[in-house]
Amino acid sequence: MSVLDGKELRIVGFLCNWCSYGGADTAGVARATQPTDLRIIRVPCSGRVDPLFVLKALFNGADGVLVSGCHPRDCHYAAGNFYARRRLEILKRFLPVLGIDERRFAYTWVSAAEGQRWQHVVTAFTRQIHELGPAPRLEDAEPLLKVADMALTALRPLGSGQSAALDELKAAIRSKLPELDCVIGWQQGRDAAHHVPLFMRKPEDVDKLVWGPFNVNNPAVYLPSFKGKKVGVVVKGCDARSVVELLQENLIRREDVTIFSMPCEGTLDMGRVDQALGRYTAIDQVAYDEAGVTITADGRAQRFCMADWAQGKCYGCATPSAVLTDESFGASAPVEAKATTPPELAMLDAMSLEERRAFWRGQMERCLRCYACRNACPLCVCRDYCVSDSRDPHWMTQEDTVKEKLFFQTIHALHLAGRCTGCGECQRACPVGIPILALRQQISRAVGELFNGYAAGMNPQDVPPLLGYAVVEENIQEQDWK
Ligand code: FES
Repeated sequence: MSVLDGKELRIVGFLCNWCSYGGADTAGVARATQPTDLRIIRVPCSGRVDPLFVLKALFNGADGVLVSGCHPRDCHYAAGNFYARRRLEILKRFLPVLGIDERRFAYTWVSAAEGQRWQHVVTAFTRQIHELGPAPRLEDAEPLLKVADMALTALRPLGSGQSAALDELKAAIRSKLPELDCVIGWQQGRDAAHHVPLFMRKPEDVDKLVWGPFNVNNPAVYLPSFKGKKVGVVVKGCDARSVVELLQENLIRREDVTIFSMPCEGTLDMGRVDQALGRYTAIDQVAYDEAGVTITADGRAQRFCMADWAQGKCYGCATPSAVLTDESFGASAPVEAKATTPPELAMLDAMSLEERRAFWRGQMERCLRCYACRNACPLCVCRDYCVSDSRDPHWMTQEDTVKEKLFFQTIHALHLAGRCTGCGECQRACPVGIPILALRQQISRAVGELFNGYAAGMNPQDVPPLLGYAVVEENIQEQDWK
């Protein structure tokens, strides 16, 4: 029984073999009294603790999780704990968006000689968890399916983009095509109201290139599969950030990629547009005007004004013009220089922890686990080695439960920490319209707060923050155990 009052709770501790595990042993040898709620898992270094370990424990009934490693500068492997500190701090800031109280997770440093400190840490953390009580289970939340109305205010003019210099762009692609294996862009899909990727290999293919608010796909997703070939890519502003992030991670080579760009005036939220169009046999006409598009299907005309029908990501977009380009056409799009919270994230910010749990419970019941979100992501490059498919290690089952599905979504989001450019392809590709971009946006916000406004995919020379560390982290306030 715990030395603390009441029922023993389940706390999982990941302890570095070289220091904290020794510290716990020292406390035991010294017969220091400790609560018995903690179940210790010994790891070779705090740097070995993948955030998914913590989430796995929390999703499977742990009431609290503690990670403890060697003090900074004392890591047996020199810098494992420095890398861990960044990852774990981001995880801590991520938990609330899932409806998990961040106080249920803590990380700290205890040396092998600090039996007394270990006793203090474990007692204080156990008390903290007892004050919070048993962790509420995701499965017990009442599903909340209604998505709150999002207040959408554009930072820039949204429009149909039909004044773009498409002919000039086509001429440039034609003249460059002989040097390239392929140029990726967009073409009309099943009808004039749906565009799909276009792979231009011959000059006549260039005639099919289209531009406008139906160009929703991010062509950067195809670039890693062209590795070693000379390829051109036509990009919107958000697509260009994905290209830059691929360059930052050496997943493509700058000399192999030619970037053609035009300023973007926003893309339509095709999930909502298709819903509004309903069932139809044929699109009769698509007419563009300055501020939107009118689609006539089976003789019925419907107007979609961009100010109301653009994708959520477009309202707060600060990079409508490509951040990196070889050939650009059209004037740069104006942006109001004011930071804004993305609408999906603002919706979750307005909820309590209980409501967020209920929200994700409801949304995950709808998830088909089709992995469209993963496959559409330009930065999800593990492909055949994805943890969700792996049997060794077998982190996830194929069970169709809300817990497993949210676990997959959280792993996906965490793998994009400091890498997600906010292109929103995950959310767009979701066949049931789950606002999963919010998970990545929360992590991107935490990364920005911790690393001086860092945003992924802005500069090819930047090192993603989770690939590095600082001995002294100016923006990380560690828990004071005194
Ligand atoms: Fe202990 Fe790295 S060896 S934290």
